[in-house]
Amino acid sequence: MCGIFGVVLKTGRVAPVIHQALERLEYRGYDSVGLATVSEKGLEVRKDRGSIRDVDLKHRLDDMAGRIGVGHTRWATHGAPSMENAHPHVSCKGDVAVVHNGIIENFLELRKQLEERKHVFRSRTDTEVIPHLIEEYVSAGEDFVESVRLAARQLEGSFAIAAVSTSRPDLIVCVKKESPLVIGLSDSSSYCASDVSAFLPLTRKAIAMEEDDLAVLETGQTRIINFRTGQELERNVSDITWSIEDATKGGYGHFMLKEINEQPLAIRNVLRIQPVYCGLMASKLEKARQVCLLGCGTSYHACLAASYLFTKLAGLQVQPVIASEFVEQYGHLIDKDSIILAVSQSGETADTLESVRFAKSKGASIMGITNVMGSTITRLSEVYIGQNSGPEVGVAATKTFTSQVSVLARLALVLAEKRNTLPIEELTKLKSSLLQIPKAMESALLTEPRVKELARKYRDRSSFCFLGRGINFTTALEARLKLLELSYLPSLAYPAGESKHGFIAVVDQDYPIVFVAPKDETYHKIVGNVMEMKARNASTIGVIDAGDERLKELLDDYIEIPTPVTSLLTPLVYVIPLQLFAYWMAVERGCDPDRPRNLAKSVTVL
Ligand code: F6R
Repeated sequence: MCGIFGVVLKTGRVAPVIHQALERLEYRGYDSVGLATVSEKGLEVRKDRGSIRDVDLKHRLDDMAGRIGVGHTRWATHGAPSMENAHPHVSCKGDVAVVHNGIIENFLELRKQLEERKHVFRSRTDTEVIPHLIEEYVSAGEDFVESVRLAARQLEGSFAIAAVSTSRPDLIVCVKKESPLVIGLSDSSSYCASDVSAFLPLTRKAIAMEEDDLAVLETGQTRIINFRTGQELERNVSDITWSIEDATKGGYGHFMLKEINEQPLAIRNVLRIQPVYCGLMASKLEKARQVCLLGCGTSYHACLAASYLFTKLAGLQVQPVIASEFVEQYGHLIDKDSIILAVSQSGETADTLESVRFAKSKGASIMGITNVMGSTITRLSEVYIGQNSGPEVGVAATKTFTSQVSVLARLALVLAEKRNTLPIEELTKLKSSLLQIPKAMESALLTEPRVKELARKYRDRSSFCFLGRGINFTTALEARLKLLELSYLPSLAYPAGESKHGFIAVVDQDYPIVFVAPKDETYHKIVGNVMEMKARNASTIGVIDAGDERLKELLDDYIEIPTPVTSLLTPLVYVIPLQLFAYWMAVERGCDPDRPRNLAKSVTVL
């Protein structure tokens, strides 16, 4: 989730305007920063790794000339944070510069073709193919606007792009597919930005770009066409009433709610991870004598979910371990034939790093799944995969859980294919079910009004228990963690079958028990657990399949998941109303969901 910005001014220099706008967009990424401006001297680019402040101190961004320019603040996905990988990226001749937010899925093929045609690449990013493609069309005699349009037609994936060229020092061309892009308009300037917060102090008149829109920004006028057909379009100009703070939260009350709602997009980004990375990791996993999956908190829950996916789909036994317990429990078994797959959103959690370093000292191979390229986990790993979620600001991990589980599900499917553990029809069905998850998540998000009602009804209870079976034991654990960390309610989670071996003693009149109960192989047993708890007069609440009449009759309250989901992938969707439940419980109880007490987003102490 990078931030992009572009501005065309009638008079004056754009560099300070871009600099300030990027400060407002820094919450979208802070790995590196860059600006490109066009003036009579040509195209000038200043960029580097680091925060805007550091890059400005080193490169004096405000001194750049020109009344047209683009800027970028980066959250690394393809290519580690570095000066070379910082945007803007430029063409071979240095006359076209591009900033981009999104993922170009077919960049490897495009890059290969461009290199065969003698283009020289300077970075490892997916973005760099774009200025080279534009350059080819310009060299073939197309004008700049048409060149951007034709280049965009070759791109697959998600992209919000802003491009400038010395051949047209009077305009910026921007294009939108899936990634957000808005236009801001005033009498003396035009802007494009990843969100309105970037230009709110400058103008409140905005146009929300729609899918496949290409906009040509000039001072005093903006033209929009469909980049696939070239057809001219009309778009409404609206007045923005949000404050800057509202805008950075996308209009949601808290970052946590915004991030819960970002999950369909986050999973689409996981589905865009190049298969080559999953293939490489899977080949190594396959050969290991033992595989341990390490994580803390939510990341550990993702490891636990993965252990079900790996064993059930690929027949591969892996050990999910809470990172802080790893050395004590498994340290003596680790050697050069062990693989440690460390899962960590921040890539900096001290407990995870300590275990990883220990395992490395014993000769084990280290692999990582993280959201932060350039983090310590990426530096310690032989192979790593970015979960591609964009910054997660809310302290409670939400999109992290579903993104990590989705990456691990992709790995499990690659392993299943390699190990031939599933009939081909089943494998194909599972792959297509994973592709459907973002849509199923979108429909699960529609349960929010019902969840809100339940939070109001149950807000004064002093404890909850979450029960699930099979892979949804993980969902129960994750739901419990979200509720207790945000509402400070001591709560429990159990595999539903285990509940009768002790927990049931706690249950009395109206004790709230939440069942994660999709109609999967465990369904009949969980129905039995609901009856056991009802017999003790507990308040029973279920997350269930839409139209499950049996549970609807048995439960006191239920949330229906509208879209059917393949059983092993249900945590990805069933966790959503439970994240929302934790969020609304916190709000109902007057707690701040974004800043729970005593917790830090990244725990860097042992
Ligand atoms: C829970 C939460 C924490 C983190 C844990 C690990 O909502 O955010 O439990 O999951 O501290 O953090 P990472 O994934 O950064 O290693």
